[in-house]
Amino acid sequence: MVKSLLVSISAALIAAAVSAASATHWEFVDNTIPRTVEFQPGCERELRGIYEDLSIYAAPESCQLHASALPAEHMYSQLIVLERQKLESDSEADVREWRETVEDAVTGFAVSSMENDSGIDTPFKIFRGRRKFCRFTIIDLPENQPLYRVLIGSNCAAEDTPNLIDMLPANTEILPVRTAGAVTPLNALPADHPIVVKSKTLKHRQSLQSIVDQVDVKTLEKDVTWLSGEAPGSPFTTRSSTSKQSVEVAEWLKSQFLSYGCDTVELMTYRSMFGPNVICTFKGTERPSEHVIIGAHHDDRGSFLNPRAPGADDDGSGSSMLLQVARIIKNNNLSFGRTFIIAAFSGEEQGLFGSAALAKKLKSEDTTITMMIQGDMLAYRKPGEPIQTAFPARYHTPELSSLLRNVTELYVPETVVGVTGACCSDHQSFWEAGFPATAFFERNGPIADPKYHNSGDLVYREGYDFEQLRASTKAMMASVFEVADVKF
Ligand SMILES: *[C@@H]1O[C@H](CO)[C@@H](O)[C@H](O)[C@H]1NC(C)=O
Ligand SMILES: *[C@@H]1O[C@H](CO)[C@@H](O)[C@H](O)[C@H]1NC(C)=O
Ligand SMILES: *[C@@H]1O[C@H](CO)[C@@H](O)[C@H](O)[C@H]1NC(C)=O
Repeated sequence: MVKSLLVSISAALIAAAVSAASATHWEFVDNTIPRTVEFQPGCERELRGIYEDLSIYAAPESCQLHASALPAEHMYSQLIVLERQKLESDSEADVREWRETVEDAVTGFAVSSMENDSGIDTPFKIFRGRRKFCRFTIIDLPENQPLYRVLIGSNCAAEDTPNLIDMLPANTEILPVRTAGAVTPLNALPADHPIVVKSKTLKHRQSLQSIVDQVDVKTLEKDVTWLSGEAPGSPFTTRSSTSKQSVEVAEWLKSQFLSYGCDTVELMTYRSMFGPNVICTFKGTERPSEHVIIGAHHDDRGSFLNPRAPGADDDGSGSSMLLQVARIIKNNNLSFGRTFIIAAFSGEEQGLFGSAALAKKLKSEDTTITMMIQGDMLAYRKPGEPIQTAFPARYHTPELSSLLRNVTELYVPETVVGVTGACCSDHQSFWEAGFPATAFFERNGPIADPKYHNSGDLVYREGYDFEQLRASTKAMMASVFEVADVKF
């Protein structure tokens, strides 16, 4: 699961849209993310795009920043200020250089934000804090300077963390970074949409139940420990998108999907530095032009500067769920009325890049997507809590979540179904593109896994629970089999 982001800028910044004619286009090509941003004349200096997955944006109060100038991916691209993962290829010198670069970058940001550009020693302040899973950084200039403040937060929702707001300067406004006009979600489905039709006709079927009940803890464990590097003989120490092992993980997934009889398995490379997406397709027998997609992400993230990133929950759990779905298709010789796609994405942790590439491609080809669902963090159960299945509170298609909630209650009676504010994962790429999409998550309420984005995200630890993962997998499998129109 990628972190959600809030940027705080003062209220004046998001005043009425600025006419594009007077705007300046700035093209940024940092190491990973090409982007163009529009600024009003005179405000160009206030933007700084900085190294790797770090970028900082700010503008003084006098500048009106075009609200839609921030591309949707922007909200994710600046998440990691001081958390870049040490890559396997990094030497100690690389790490030291990166740290210094970050410090220079932050200093440079502060210096450049003043009237005086000649490299003066800047008494800027950085505050860092943490509240539950909300981590944040505030860069603040002294009071006699023009107002430039940036809050780079992760997993902070204004409504979830009211106390965070109390800690901010009085004239700071918190905005969800997803800006109007940047996305075109589809929130109301037409009456003849298959999701709406299914909602009216959904009925428990014993034949489907007996397939779903085949979800097997032993094979889930075998797959997820291989991915996390805990199984004897597993070569993996990290699945970070930019690591060499990310490519090897994708190749391993491809070989597994091929062994489960997918009609095609594609390695979809969309960015040279990243491992590819892995896309298995079962062609529909009746309505091949209609597509149902189940996704998870195979990349992961460890602790800052720690080269080990096992990602057993995030998102080894979802990846093993995908393999389980393919395995059960093979074991039962299942086929589908609609075309059924199993997608293991990379680049999720850096900003949903792999899924965005696929959603964009499908959109450009005018593909019909009946639904897309994502499973991200499916296996952690806080000691003492029941097995749970949560649907997202935001960035989803409500009618779809409502249907799948009912599917889950019908086929997985052992789980307690609810809602989570935890955010963000690959279904959003599809939701943003106007496709019906939602996600499955392990807990009703916020993230509870203490090893989230930590090198200790292992299988063999307290709270990692295969009965939780089994229930999550059953719920997702029943959902896609219902909507893809499975044939027994
Ligand atoms: C910038 O600050 C330096 C150091 O205080 C000062 O010497 C210089 O004159 C200033 N330049 C301008 C253009 O204000
Ligand atoms: C879900 O089930 C409830 C209770 O049976 C029903 O009222 C509702 O219409 C169902 N929703 C969908 C989308 O199937
Ligand atoms: C699998 O199903 C297809 C039709 O869906 C059928 O032609 C084939 O014989 C079946 N194979 C096995 C091994 O049951």
